[in-house]
Amino acid sequence: MAEATSHEILSFSHEGRVFPPPPEFQKKAHIRSLEEYRALYAEAANDPDAFWGARAREELYWKTPFHTVLDWKPPHAQWFLGGTTNLCYNALDRHLPKYAEKTAILFEGEPGDVRKITYRQLHADVCRLANGLKSLGVKKGDRVGIYLPMVPEAAVAMLACARIGAVHSVVFGGFSSEAVRERMNDAGAKVLLTADGGWRKGGVVPLKANVDAALPHMPSVEKVVVLQRTKNPIQLGPKDVAWEKLVEAQSPTCEPEWVDSEHPLFILYTSGSTGKPKGVLHTTAGYAVYVSLTTRWVFDLKDDDVYWCTADVGWVTGHSYVVYGPLMNHATSFLYEGAPTTPGPDRFWDNIERHKVTILYTAPTAIRAFMRTGDEHPKKHDMRSLRLLGTVGEPINPEAWMWYRDVIGGGRCPIVDTWWQTETGGILVSPLPGATPTKPGSATLPLPGIFLKVLGKDGKEVPPGQGGKLFLAKPWPALLRTVYGDPERYVKTYFSEVPGLYFTGDGARIDADGYLWVMGRVDDVVNVAGHRLGTAEVESALVSEGRVAEAAVVGRPDELKGTALVAFVTLKKGVESSAELKAQLSAHVIKEIGAIARPDEIRFADALPKTRSGKIMRRLLRDVAAGVRTTGDTTTLEDLNVLAKLRGDEE
Ligand code: PRX
Repeated sequence: MAEATSHEILSFSHEGRVFPPPPEFQKKAHIRSLEEYRALYAEAANDPDAFWGARAREELYWKTPFHTVLDWKPPHAQWFLGGTTNLCYNALDRHLPKYAEKTAILFEGEPGDVRKITYRQLHADVCRLANGLKSLGVKKGDRVGIYLPMVPEAAVAMLACARIGAVHSVVFGGFSSEAVRERMNDAGAKVLLTADGGWRKGGVVPLKANVDAALPHMPSVEKVVVLQRTKNPIQLGPKDVAWEKLVEAQSPTCEPEWVDSEHPLFILYTSGSTGKPKGVLHTTAGYAVYVSLTTRWVFDLKDDDVYWCTADVGWVTGHSYVVYGPLMNHATSFLYEGAPTTPGPDRFWDNIERHKVTILYTAPTAIRAFMRTGDEHPKKHDMRSLRLLGTVGEPINPEAWMWYRDVIGGGRCPIVDTWWQTETGGILVSPLPGATPTKPGSATLPLPGIFLKVLGKDGKEVPPGQGGKLFLAKPWPALLRTVYGDPERYVKTYFSEVPGLYFTGDGARIDADGYLWVMGRVDDVVNVAGHRLGTAEVESALVSEGRVAEAAVVGRPDELKGTALVAFVTLKKGVESSAELKAQLSAHVIKEIGAIARPDEIRFADALPKTRSGKIMRRLLRDVAAGVRTTGDTTTLEDLNVLAKLRGDEE
């Protein structure tokens, strides 16, 4: 389709290129025009209770209807009070009369094994595991850890927990044994579900071995349920139970536990600017309503779609838009276990061609990596089944956006650049494919019920086009409820920058058309290849090695990963710097956190630049890491030589 110029889209001030929604989306999408979007937005603004109340009744089956839509005592929100429901029932049972034989999960393993799981079968698998968990003593409110590869059983595990009112906490399979230990202990998990391994890049990820190493240090974990995925030889210890044995004798039906709207659904750990990762807590009904609705609005799901979100279930995108959102919309969700480059750089495109994927939702980092490996790989494949493309996790540069549109989408698929966070539960800002003209690099407009504010240093709203900190002015149903076990941290992290407003941690600007341009984190969180990391976490991993006196980790812009990690390290007295030590420090970070936290560069320094009050001057280090000459005020530096030495090292 031809690129539109600004005067073709009336009222658009034109910042860069603008692409109107394709005509077939304007005809058939769930929301078909900008006017329809604006009307919904106004409805949500004028009477939020009526708006969300109506949506909640439409989206979910309620065992008991709610009597109050929202109880908002800033910064604490409670939604749909008085109601009882069950998310698993809404994702499975509800669809059985009409969609029992429809494929719910279409799975392909890295070795090429394919499974089609219908709604009927998924329901039975979930019920068996739910009964199995109960037989292990798991009760409503108990926490259950999930450390699995991207296989259907990961979704089965989440749904089984939701069915019996247990609270799941999924740990990404790429995280280390230490990371599992830390998270399971914080959550107080009673049971942990894992596998003998998962396939990645032709090898086996040793999940069970990682659990074994952590098990003696996880006192709350009573049982470990082990799935056989790879046939990697493992031994079952006294706390281990084979998954297959646990479920084989169980009944394929299990009465769902009807829980209050605010019953905890899951805890998902995510990095913050200080300390250890925090357990973001989401509850049942608000999350379910919001995720169900936004999946349909943003991805415009239709009955015959084959929808593929490439995120791992270990991240919030996997929770909301691989498992819960698509299943609540009786969609076919495609799951792929392995690496995008195995056996060759065209695996994704091959998957799309063979399974006739219609919707693809992936991360800018992946798109940039594919761009770099060359157009010949996607061009070998017939991807005409694709009708919509999405991105998430980090800002997408306009060049990658255009490549995605032209080379992957054949110029015909709208792109939805979705901005949101672990804490927001679901997508907050995104184009609606039948309504919103898109601009490459902008997440465009807030969804109905979402109210953005960009505030300057003085705490006042900035004029259009000017950058500032991004806040949300009103609660929405999928807002996190607390930080598990640390309610003060919830208030401090999200609601103390400006009382009553939710602080996102992102910098952004809103243009004259009301379009959001996210500029990245303004706190000490870095987004490396779409993965969120706290610089403090990596620093404490480095220091815990034993030979490091002090570490400061900063982000440096990176063409491929968005941000690369640079660690400035001072060594304890008597420790010699060497290339070998750098490698050992890297290996230690991988052991403590996982490969995603491996520093891209480690630089030894005699001292770190500090203010007179002893604070590390990260701004300076960021400039040094990026190779930029520091122009800012450095008069508070304790020792200007420190900066000179770091620079000298670089030049
Ligand atoms: O900085 C923003 C960036 O990712 C952060 C949230 O990370 P996480 O909680 O891991 O969730 C990622 C998946 C929802 C945000 O604070 N981010 C996410 N989506 C976008 C984005 N930045 C720009 N554009 C996006 N579409």
